[in-house]
Amino acid sequence: MSTYAEFYRRSIDDRDAFWAEQARLIDWKQAPRTICDNSKPPFTRWFAGGTTNLCHNAVDRHLQTRPDQPALIYVSTETGAERTYSFRELHGEVQRAAAALQGLGVKKGDRVLIYMPMIAEAAFAMLACARIGAIHSVVFGGFASVSLASRIEDATPKVIVSADAGSRGGKVVPYKPLLDEAIRLSSHKPQSVLMVDRGLAPMESVTGRDHDWAALTGKHKDAQVDCEWLDSTDISYTIYTSGTTGRPKGVQRDVGGYAVALAASMKHIFLGEPGETYFSTSDIGWVVGHSYIIYGPLIAGMATIMYEGLPIRPDAGIWWSLVEKYKVTSMFSAPTAVRVLKKHDPAFLKKYDLSSLKALSLAGEPLDEPTAQWISDGLGRPIIDNYWQTESGWPILALANGVEKQRSKFGSPGLPMYGYDIRLVHESTGAELTAPGEKGVVVIEGPTPPGFMQTVWGDDQRYVDTYWHTVPGRTVYSTFDWGIRDKDGYFFILGRTDDVINVAGHRLGTREIEESISSHPNVAEVAVVGVADSLKGQVAMAFVVPRDAAGLTDTASRLKLEGDIMKVVDEQLGAVARPSRVHFVNLLPKTRSGKLLRRAIQAVAEGRDAGDLTTIEDPSALQQIRDLMAP
Ligand code: PRX
Repeated sequence: MSTYAEFYRRSIDDRDAFWAEQARLIDWKQAPRTICDNSKPPFTRWFAGGTTNLCHNAVDRHLQTRPDQPALIYVSTETGAERTYSFRELHGEVQRAAAALQGLGVKKGDRVLIYMPMIAEAAFAMLACARIGAIHSVVFGGFASVSLASRIEDATPKVIVSADAGSRGGKVVPYKPLLDEAIRLSSHKPQSVLMVDRGLAPMESVTGRDHDWAALTGKHKDAQVDCEWLDSTDISYTIYTSGTTGRPKGVQRDVGGYAVALAASMKHIFLGEPGETYFSTSDIGWVVGHSYIIYGPLIAGMATIMYEGLPIRPDAGIWWSLVEKYKVTSMFSAPTAVRVLKKHDPAFLKKYDLSSLKALSLAGEPLDEPTAQWISDGLGRPIIDNYWQTESGWPILALANGVEKQRSKFGSPGLPMYGYDIRLVHESTGAELTAPGEKGVVVIEGPTPPGFMQTVWGDDQRYVDTYWHTVPGRTVYSTFDWGIRDKDGYFFILGRTDDVINVAGHRLGTREIEESISSHPNVAEVAVVGVADSLKGQVAMAFVVPRDAAGLTDTASRLKLEGDIMKVVDEQLGAVARPSRVHFVNLLPKTRSGKLLRRAIQAVAEGRDAGDLTTIEDPSALQQIRDLMAP
């Protein structure tokens, strides 16, 4: 095998030959005609002319060689459910779900919105959509009615698949009332709603619109629904993510490029072999869940564990007990989860036989060195920090240990992955920064590799305007992350350049939270910033100018309003977006032209120097925040 440096070079310099080789990792009905069509940048069409299907590659393809091998291992420490589906059984479940969706009129290109907890039916629904060429749009179950409504509005689904409730830490979280409210708020109404009844919460059913999953799939017991052969460049799914504006963006992905990208990443980065077991602790509502709970491991012919529950319940050894029981070979989680475990007895890391485990990958937020060291010492297994985004679908920076064993450096997610031409540019001039240690914005030179987002759903212009920035001589894709590169080419990621915050690995837009807080009648103005937190990485902190400050003279009334505002965010967006604190001020720091000085607010809230304040309108605004933060 070549060295990684050669492998990487070839992916850039001999792009088509490189990706033509990777394309052989999956099944095609019709082989691609063109490997990379970049005739209309920044829109890249991968494997044009080829036809394939994600569900075929994830399920049907393995029926010949491994029908009775575990495919989906479902474990819930919330309900006590634990069940293994072989590839054959998964095939049956997916066909029944596909038949049920078809029965509701779902056809190729229709959207199906999936708002579900971590239950096996969610995986069946996703794969069923992929099978019939419907576009799924999974919305994280932790989001509440307003977040959900904006996604329904944008995706205009024909059908919504949901469940009566999720469960978290033993507490039932009803979904149906949130869904009904979201549909009420949205101007688009789905034709049908397909509900999985877990028997956790009572449900009111809307006659003619709502259907029962068990009843409907039960009608299709022996359903045989063939895979729809899709063009490689057809749309497989959209997933919403936050950015600078309040309106979430539907990140749109293709079929063939995504399948190839995942198959390649399982081989080169995640060291996944057919017959082995993969365990990603993410949620299907996030990109990691799409790529590395559902599609990646299954395409690789691995069993995948889908886990509903907390990492510390019944105790902090639960994940490791699953590694032992199911002989997990590759695991994927987030730094926050490790920091949660770190608060518990490290003996849990030694209690189980982890000899099957080749590596633990961590992504989604910066992995601090002490956390990396703690888990590395505890497990005695390689820790692979990897950096990517909803937009990319698979790692941008990582270590391709499947190509060549690479040295890892704590604090760095590693090297540019094959296919990614990564540069650092100056924040304002766009000039390329090449000297080691220089801080700049991480950008990608087009064409973007297979698996990368195609566009923003329904809004090509927004894709171009949001992500593609002009630097001298060309336009490049901006990750909106700060980074530096060391002398060995390893990157270090230093946080976002925009208003996106990362709370416990969950990506949230501060503007969305501000809009929600603004809907409270006593809020005149609000600024939300991300503030460093030792457990969650970042938390949201709100600074509110109340409309009526007269009633806020005592602590009790301030706490009451703070609680009311948090409740608004809980109800509209979900508890994930709830600010850790709401502080009251009588004005917000702005420039003379009225621009909010977010970076200055954030710096002061983190106890740092506010930086250049020559343009500030009224310095007392920042002083108020400083006083509030004083211990
Ligand atoms: O800021 C970066 C941070 O998370 C953002 C992307 O979040 P999301 O779209 O939810 O995708 C997560 C996919 C793993 C990035 O722009 N981020 C992600 N991974 C890392 C990271 N920051 C530092 N180190 C990482 N390994």
